[in-house]
Amino acid sequence: NERTYIMIKPDGVQRGLVGNIIARFEQRLVQATEAHLENHYSDLKGKPFFPGLIKYMASGPVVAMVWQGLDAVKTGRAMLGTTNPLQSPPGSIRGDFALAVGRNICHGSDSVESAEKEIKLQGVVQYTTSLETWIFE
Ligand code: GTP
Ligand code: MG
Repeated sequence: NERTYIMIKPDGVQRGLVGNIIARFEQRLVQATEAHLENHYSDLKGKPFFPGLIKYMASGPVVAMVWQGLDAVKTGRAMLGTTNPLQSPPGSIRGDFALAVGRNICHGSDSVESAEKEIKLQGVVQYTTSLETWIFE
């Protein structure tokens, strides 16, 4: 079982998409400050869009979640779609709801290592749900 870090970004929160997005993860994967963001996106430091990305990400509240399940990282990324919404397929969260690469609604960890770093940075508690035995053999 892997863990992945999914975050609904400020545009997703402001646009009232939180319930819709969480509902998608509930159906698919069960059991689940600027300094923070600069650390979270440290691999992108130096990119031309980095200052704008940090400003946008710090512009309002976000919703942070940890989802656990088989291939959680890849499953989460597939559900989100690609970075640029124009290349995201219909049915993906970014493909259905986002218009611009710099306003792509949700974050998803891109590897197990990133997920562990991001979850640690966020400080999310871990718990077990009673649904587990209904899902995993
Ligand atoms: P995250 O899930 O947010 O990490 O997105 P990602 O993994 O699909 O892309 P990446 O980590 O490479 O970039 C992080 C974020 O920076 C993206 O989600 C975009 O919002 C933004 N970003 C990436 N590339 C560009 C770009 O070329 N232009 C602009 N304006 N923003 C970009
Ligand atoms: Mg990324």
